[in-house]
Amino acid sequence: MQQVYLDNNATTPLDPLVFEAMKPHYLEDFGNASSIHSFGQKASSAVERARSQVAELIGARTREIVFTSGGTEADNAALRGVATHHRSRGNHILTAATEHSAVLHTCEQLEREGFRVSCLPVDREGMISLDQFKEAIEDKTTLISIMHGNNEIGVIQPIKEMAAIAREREVLFHTDAVQTVAKIPVNVAELGVDLLSLSAHKIHGPKGVGALYVRSGVSIDPLLYGGSHERSRRAGTLNVPGIVGLGRTAELAKEALKDFSTRVGALRDRLEKGILEQIPGTVVNGSKSRRVPHLTNISFRSIEGEALLISLDFEGVAVSTGSACASGTVEPSHVLTALGGKPQLHKSAIRFSLSRMNTEQEINYVVSVLPKIVKRMREVSPSYRVG
Ligand SMILES: Cc1ncc(COP(=O)(O)O)c(C=O)c1O
Repeated sequence: MQQVYLDNNATTPLDPLVFEAMKPHYLEDFGNASSIHSFGQKASSAVERARSQVAELIGARTREIVFTSGGTEADNAALRGVATHHRSRGNHILTAATEHSAVLHTCEQLEREGFRVSCLPVDREGMISLDQFKEAIEDKTTLISIMHGNNEIGVIQPIKEMAAIAREREVLFHTDAVQTVAKIPVNVAELGVDLLSLSAHKIHGPKGVGALYVRSGVSIDPLLYGGSHERSRRAGTLNVPGIVGLGRTAELAKEALKDFSTRVGALRDRLEKGILEQIPGTVVNGSKSRRVPHLTNISFRSIEGEALLISLDFEGVAVSTGSACASGTVEPSHVLTALGGKPQLHKSAIRFSLSRMNTEQEINYVVSVLPKIVKRMREVSPSYRVG
């Protein structure tokens, strides 16, 4: 049976070239990057090479890259690190309703510890209003965290404009760029952000490794205490194979970025057009003009997203729903809920996320099987009426 993987926002297949780069660091070059002997030096120079590869991808300086265990840790380190370090200046954090749970749940915990958090709403397209953004900044705000490209609907926020406003107000600005790095050009200097999170496994790298960009001059408290690794910003023996993998991933991504938007964007458009034209009662969630090139989130009227996901899986197609499964009940996603509109439509949403490894033939396959599945499901759906 044909297999088509369209859940690349969840994770991506490892690039074999990345695996090749990592392999020696599991086997013969296994040294601890903090050791003084030659094994350690070899590991340390591999880590520093990776650091410059990551820095190069996002236009940072090498010393501004802190390796982490992934995007979740990078988000936690940014939020908690800034909030606690700058607590004497203020206790207010500004974020948005459509952020990833790595940001939202960290904010909830910080609230329990005495910080105040404001959550900006979004419009029907998923966009934050710059006026509301400006108004929400308080004298006591020390940190703003707004995601670059949304993981569920792909909408891109005006980070450059927001970061400029934050700088004027002397507030530190963090962006979660886990779903935009290696998909669209991301340059920290151009964006003007102070902190930025990225993760390797979303871009054909290994799981369990990521990085936090911390602009020179920005001080944060570490999440983990221990040795003086990562200039005392993140204690713990470095995951050398993972870090080398992230470095190689960044290097390959820089090359792949040249035609990512045109090539993967064309595949996404082909998929979306095929679905919208062939299946009535379908609608794209979120802005179509300001979004990443590799994603479309579509609601299928009168269909349960989970049921459609399972039917697609039987046909070899892997996607995800716009819903989160919490303790056995399917809740509409907080991102789609924030857009407003009917909860029932949100529960029928499917996220198709592509990568540079998808092909036109795969997209054609999905477009050929999907209409039949939806038709079959609607025939037994009491709520569906055409027109
Ligand atoms: C936007 C965003 N931020 C953070 C994360 C967490 O990254 P990781 O899986 O590396 O912890 C994800 C992954 O789902 C994500 O999509």
